[in-house]
Amino acid sequence: MVVRHFLCHFTMASLVACALSGCGPSAAPPAKPVGGGTAPSEATPPAGDTGDEPTKEESDPSVKPKLMLGSPDLTAGISSEKDASAIDTADIEYWLNDPANHETLEFDLPLGLAAGRMQVKGFEANPLTRAKIELGRQLFFDPRLSADGTVSCSSCHSPDHGYAAETQFGVGINGKQGGRNSPVAYNRILSEKQFWDGRAESLEEQALGPIANPIEMGHTHDACIDCLKGIEGYRLQFDKIFGEFRIDHVGQAIACFERVLVTGPSPFDFYEQFRPFAEQEEDDFEGDDLIAYKQAKEAMEAHPMSEAAIRGRGLFFSEKKGGCTACHVGANLTDELYHNLGVGMDAAEPDLGRFAETKVEKDRGAFKTPTIRNVTLSAPYMHDGSQKTLEEVVEWYAKGGHPNPQLDPKIKKLDLTGQDKKDLVEFMKACEGELPKVERGRLPQ
Ligand code: HEC
Ligand code: HEC
Repeated sequence: MVVRHFLCHFTMASLVACALSGCGPSAAPPAKPVGGGTAPSEATPPAGDTGDEPTKEESDPSVKPKLMLGSPDLTAGISSEKDASAIDTADIEYWLNDPANHETLEFDLPLGLAAGRMQVKGFEANPLTRAKIELGRQLFFDPRLSADGTVSCSSCHSPDHGYAAETQFGVGINGKQGGRNSPVAYNRILSEKQFWDGRAESLEEQALGPIANPIEMGHTHDACIDCLKGIEGYRLQFDKIFGEFRIDHVGQAIACFERVLVTGPSPFDFYEQFRPFAEQEEDDFEGDDLIAYKQAKEAMEAHPMSEAAIRGRGLFFSEKKGGCTACHVGANLTDELYHNLGVGMDAAEPDLGRFAETKVEKDRGAFKTPTIRNVTLSAPYMHDGSQKTLEEVVEWYAKGGHPNPQLDPKIKKLDLTGQDKKDLVEFMKACEGELPKVERGRLPQ
């Protein structure tokens, strides 16, 4: 039985420990010379400087330790000695002068998402570095990307609402609204095409859309760049990281930040991790297998799924009763494809979704399957935000969606009892894992 790969990354604590042991400088660099000197000095403590015995990986300089995505030090912001709320030019220069912040990061994904490693997109064209992640973080939370300085990406993708918004539609500058609900901005690392209709080929391309969208940030790309160029801290970062200051660099930095927004292991993941062992007893194992068995068991017991959630899992995965995994499948619980559920199809002029891109008949009213991970945090639901709760969503499936000529053949009336419906909702709640702690302030002034 293959159990060895279970040996790492069990709990959030070990996840963080793993990350910390392998990551060069943290966001809290060692004390810099008084006076805010610019040189990194001997800046970086050796990786894994925890006082523990070095592991083999750490002691062999040719083996680069991998970083666990989701580790909070990636998104903690540049530290400042003077003022915790702001960063100044000296802080930024100090940060930029540390070569470790420009190294391409090798990374692991947390338990659960890790199964989607082969699906990871976008790294060849836009390697992940600490400097780009941090610049992207600043840009994501900076309202100066919008024409009137009031709307940032986080206005519609707020950490308080699962990186989505609590409003039915995205609300942009001057209170303007579109006709679509803000999707979540995490776990994008496992997703290539972006938007409900998949019209952006990459995260890099997607990030530039809202800036120039008249009902979102209402800027032009040129005016946005001119505005950012007026801020010294941004000038320094673009110069050092990209050598130039172009709008596509804005997209690259934001994409790097979004790629580290990943959901940590959920009760569902700990349950899945133990499942291969479930039929056996502790006595059946020895050596490494016994350690793996015990760790998986402890992790599951520390993050339990309720009985209802376990029954809901059965329905979610069953072909006949729930059938959810016909589309919500894989590490991020989405097939990354487009389906018509009939949502909004009773409108006088329905949103045609994917059809606008492909002009293929079957794509009329089809939208990209969203993730179920952390879906509890991002109500309201569906591309038009028309469903307020997960209970409502389950009712939608139970009645077989809304009939229309392009209704996906996988959407059929379901034979679910009241308890079944509750159980499905409980299962979705058990798919919630921790999102990384992210600093929202500390922007260049
Ligand atoms: C005014 C609200 C608003 C603002 C501001 C905004 N977004 Fe969005 N975002 C949306 C909406 C609505 C959609 C879905 C639009 C569509 O599919 O046509 C979306 C889609 C996305 C997606 C695609 C997710 C997926 O699953 O396909 C990403 C990623 C994203 N936004 C990131 C950003 C970034 C980065 C910024 C800042 C540069 C930003 N958004 C600014 C509302 C907003
Ligand atoms: C045929 C593919 C398919 C099947 C089967 C399916 N879904 Fe979906 N799911 C989608 C698509 C596509 C959307 C978005 C539809 C839209 O907005 O028009 C969606 C949306 C959702 C949402 C809203 C998420 C959000 O962020 O807005 C939830 C929750 C959900 N599905 C749960 C389920 C459950 C539970 C089942 C099983 C009972 C299920 N789905 C079966 C494709 C599917």
